[in-house]
Order: sequence, then structure tokens, then C-alpha cells
Amino acid sequence: MGRSSPFKVEALKGKVALITGGASGIGFEIATQFGLHGAAVALMGRRSHVLQAAVEALRSQGIQAIGLEGDVRRQADAARVLEATVKRFRKLDILINGAAGNFLASPEDLSPNGFRTVIDIDTVGTYTMCHESLKYLKAGGLGKAPSEGGLILNISATLHYTAAWYQINVSAAKAAVDSITRGLALEWGTDYDIRVNGIAPGPIAATPGMRKLAPEEMKSRIRDDIPLFKLGDKWDIAMAAIYMASDAGKYINGATLIVDGGLWLSHPRIIPKEEVKQLSRLVETKSRKDPVGMPPKSKL
Ligand code: HXC
Repeated sequence: MGRSSPFKVEALKGKVALITGGASGIGFEIATQFGLHGAAVALMGRRSHVLQAAVEALRSQGIQAIGLEGDVRRQADAARVLEATVKRFRKLDILINGAAGNFLASPEDLSPNGFRTVIDIDTVGTYTMCHESLKYLKAGGLGKAPSEGGLILNISATLHYTAAWYQINVSAAKAAVDSITRGLALEWGTDYDIRVNGIAPGPIAATPGMRKLAPEEMKSRIRDDIPLFKLGDKWDIAMAAIYMASDAGKYINGATLIVDGGLWLSHPRIIPKEEVKQLSRLVETKSRKDPVGMPPKSKL
């Protein structure tokens, strides 16, 4: 199990989760931890050999798992994979939209088709999976009790909170994903008792995303910018997902939880700490002695 979990092993007992992009990276760690906490998991991905290896690894840990080939960009694939999941496990409680595409390119080198491709995978893919899963996830949906609504968890990013170099397509895609999270949380929370939340990971070690976006020699520079001075682990994201999916998260709806060590808040410290103490006192004393520019005291 690697690092031990702070959650009870039965935290997700009896739950069924479908995880897109679940055969590798963050998605696979979520699948593993969900399985170890009692859930049955279906993995959706494009590459059959990767799916097969992932399912074997899960089953060897005693986890109920299946792999289903499909591309989230195709509505028919989404419908087929959802149907197969429910056929095998008899219901669906949790949909995790983890499938994503990414590459670094400056806008002048990014064709409209390159922009569209990432939007298609991340944004339209997420929406398509949500749309096709409604009939299963809603309270009273196929195989579910009338009082048992499901959960959608969208894996997002923090790039669009400010602006990110060379990732204008992913920033736009994830901004839209966050908007889908809030929109569906409002509408489907109200109408179908489905909670819809997100997780926004920062730089997570040993993921396909980090391998693509941050070559080895850049990693220490990224670490220096993170308030906690370390990359995250896939485990950190999986624990956040368990929190959202277990009873602990039953009142969380429409939230995207940032798990990035504080990176998106980071900017350089301009004045050293010792200097700021002196400077701040000096400014206060000066303004008391010489209140230049202060408005005259009111006579009232
Ligand atoms: C410029 C590029 C490019 C590059 C592709 N394109 N790579 N443009 N620089 N490096 C352009 C192509 O020229 C083409 O446009 C268009 O994008 C589509 O390319 P295809 O190769 O035909 O697309 P496809 O085969 O569908 O592959 C999609 C993909 C690929 C996104 C390009 O990388 C992929 O499948 N990725 C999935 C796996 C992945 O990326 N995992 C990491 C996720 S990490 P033209 O105009 O020539 O037709 C992650 C983290 C996000 O998501 C958060 C970050 C903090």
C-alpha cells in the first residue's frame, strides 16, 4: 500500500467508480487507493496494453477492476464504457474525469487544431462523460436507491487562476472544466442529488504530465517556487479524492480543491523579513510625527 492511508479501509466500501485516464499517472493512483478502500473500479483509456497492465496490477492487490477501451472525445465510446461498467458492477456511484491532453507550445506555434484538440479531450470529453453518466449517477438511477445520488470529480489545474506560459490551450480547457464543475453542481445537485467537485493538482512527481511539461533539469527550479519546497505525490491527489468521495465530503458540492503545496499563490519575497520589521516601524513612527498628506481631523 506504500504510504499508509489516514482513512478507514472501508471508507469506499460498496462504491463503484469509473475513472477516465485511470490506467496511468494520477488516475491509476486514484484507482488503486479507491480499490484499497473498498471500491470496485473501471478504468477507461485509449491504449489496451496499458489498460491490461493496470488491471492486472490492481487485481493482484485484491481489487475488483476492469479496463475498458475508449476515447472520451467519442460520445459512443462514453456511452458504451458506462454501460459496460454498470453491466459488470450493477451500478455507478462515482465518475472521475481524469483523461487529459497536454503539450507545451507558444501561441504562435499552436494551430487552432492544436488548441481544439486539448479542448476536445479535457473540456468536451469531461462534459460528454458527465452527460452520458447522468442516468446512472442520479438518485434512483440504474441500480441505485432513490436516496443515493452519485459524485462527479473533475481533475483540473491551477494554470488559469493567473496565466501560464506555453499552455494557453490547457488553461482555457481547465477554466471551462471548473465552470462545468460549478454549473453541474448547481443544476444536478438540485435536480438529481449528484455532487460535482474538482481537484486541481500542482506539479505531481512521476506523472506523464510532469514528464511532458517539466524536463528533469527544470524540477529543482519548480521546487524552489513552491512554498512547501517539494513536488506533490500522486498519493496526495488520491487522498483528496477519497476525502471528496467518502462520507467525509458529503456536504461538499461545487468545490475545486487545490492540492499544489501553495504553488499558485507563489511570488518572490521582495523585502527580507528582518528588513520589513524595521521598515514597517519606521513608516509608522514617521507618519505619526509628520502626518503629511493626512486629512485634517474632523471637528464633529
Ligand atoms: C504544437 C502540437 C504539438 C506540439 C500536437 N500538436 N503536439 N502543436 N506543439 N508539441 C498539434 C498537432 O500538430 C495537431 O494540429 C493537433 O495538435 C492534434 O495533434 P494530434 O497528434 O493529431 O492529436 P492526438 O493524436 O489526438 O493527440 C492528442 C495530444 C497527445 C494531446 C497531442 O499529446 C495526447 O494524446 N495526449 C494524451 C496524454 C497526455 O498528454 N497526458 C498528459 C496529461 S497531463 P495540426 O494543426 O497540425 O493538425 C495534464 C496536466 C494538466 O493534462 C495540468 C498541468 C499543470
